[in-house]
Amino acid sequence: MLVRPNPIQRKIMKLKYLTSLMVLITPLAALADVLVITADRLVDVEAGKLINNPMVIVEDNKIAQIGEQGKLDTPAGAKVIKLEGQTILPGLMDMHVHLTGDADMHGYKRLAVSLPRSAIYGVKNARKTLMAGFTTARNVGAAGYADVALRDAINDGDVIGPRLFVSGPSLGVTGGHCDNNLLPFDYKVKSDGVADGPWAVREKVRQNIKYGADVIKFCATGGVLSKGTKVGVQQYSQEEMNALVTEAKLRGLTVAAHAHGTDGIKAAIKAGVTSVEHASFLDKEAIKMAKKAGTYFSMDIYNTEYILGEGEKAGILPESLDKERVVGGKQRASFSQAVKAGVKMVFGSDAGVYPHGDNGNQFTRMVKFGMTPMQAIQAATINPATMLKQQDKTGSIRVGKLADIISVKGNPLQDISTLENVITVIKDGQIVKQ
Ligand code: ARG
Repeated sequence: MLVRPNPIQRKIMKLKYLTSLMVLITPLAALADVLVITADRLVDVEAGKLINNPMVIVEDNKIAQIGEQGKLDTPAGAKVIKLEGQTILPGLMDMHVHLTGDADMHGYKRLAVSLPRSAIYGVKNARKTLMAGFTTARNVGAAGYADVALRDAINDGDVIGPRLFVSGPSLGVTGGHCDNNLLPFDYKVKSDGVADGPWAVREKVRQNIKYGADVIKFCATGGVLSKGTKVGVQQYSQEEMNALVTEAKLRGLTVAAHAHGTDGIKAAIKAGVTSVEHASFLDKEAIKMAKKAGTYFSMDIYNTEYILGEGEKAGILPESLDKERVVGGKQRASFSQAVKAGVKMVFGSDAGVYPHGDNGNQFTRMVKFGMTPMQAIQAATINPATMLKQQDKTGSIRVGKLADIISVKGNPLQDISTLENVITVIKDGQIVKQ
C-alpha cells in the first residue's frame, strides 16, 4: 500500500530535491569566463621592470594568476591569446581629457555646438580613446554634466569607452579661463561652473557632487584658449581656492587645478589640490612646494604642437596662438625641471584640444623632455591609479586587480613610440580590440 507523505515529510523531500538541483547548478555558475594571455614581455610598472615570457590568466573581469609561460597550466576551456613579439602593459590612463569636445571645434566654432551634440561627440571620442589603449580617463570639464551621462552610459554598457572619472563643469571666476567670454554682455552668457567668493565656490562644489562629479576641477589662472585671459595671471584668490579644496576634500573628492602661472600654481598647491594641470611657469619654489605637498603635475606637453600646427584652421583665436607661442616652450622646460626634481607626474594630454585617439603621441615628448620610458609608462598607469585612489583596482597587472591590459609591438622601453599603436585592448576582462 502506498503511504502518502505528511506535510513535513513533503517539505523535506522538496528541500532535498532543491539541494540536489543546486549541487548540479552551482559548479556551472561558478565556471568563470577564462582568458589566457601570453606575450614576449610584461611591463611591471610597480617594480619598474620587464618580465619575460609572461602568462596572465584572467577570470571574468579580474587578473587571477600571473606566471611564466610553461610554469602555469592553461585552464580547460580558456580562450587563449598569443601575443608573439609583443609586450603587455596595464591599460593606459589619461588624466586630462575633454571627451565632449572635438579638436576641430575651437573658438567661435564651438558656440555652434549644442549640449546634446557635445554629449554625442563624447560617445565617439570615448570609443577612440579606448581603442588607443586608454582604459581609464579623467574628464576635467564638461558643460551640462554631459561627462556624467557618458560615464554612466559606459558603466551601464550602452556605449564603449574608458573607465571615466569626471568633474562636470569646471569652476572658475567670472570672465576667467573657465568662463565663456566669446560673446558681448547683451548675450548674458556665463559658463555652468562660474562662482565667485568662498561660499559661492563651496555651493558649486556641492552642486557638482549632487549631479555626479567624481573630482572637482577649477581654473586657478588664465589660459591659452580662453578669450581675454592672461595666461600667467592668478584668477581665484587664495581664500577661494582654500574654500573650494576644503569643501571637496570634506566630501572625499580629489581636486584638479588648471594653472599656468607661477603664483596660481603656488596658491593651488597651498590650498591642497591633488593635481596641477599644465603647470607651465614653474620656478624652484613651486617645484619644492609640490614635492613637499605630494602634488601631482599633469603636463600636456604634446598639445603645443597641435595648437601651433593646426590650431588656426580649427578656429583657435589669434590671441590664443600668440599665448601658445610663449607657453609651449616654457612648459616643456618646466616639465624637464619637475621630472629632474622628482615631482609626482601623471599623464595628462588635454585631448579634445587635439584629436582624441592621438593621446599616446605625448609619450615620445615625455621621454624627449626628460623621463625614462619606464617613468612615462608609470605616469600613465600606476601614478594616476594612485592619484585617483584606485590603486587596489587598477594601474598595474597584478593578481586581484581589474583586467585592463593592452599590448604593443616590440619593446616600449626601447621604443616608446610603440605606444602610439596599441594592438590589443582588454578592459574589465573584455577584449575590445585585437
Ligand atoms: N586648455 C589649455 C589652455 O587653454 C591648453 C594649453 C595648451 N598649451 C600648452 N602648452 N599646454 O590653457
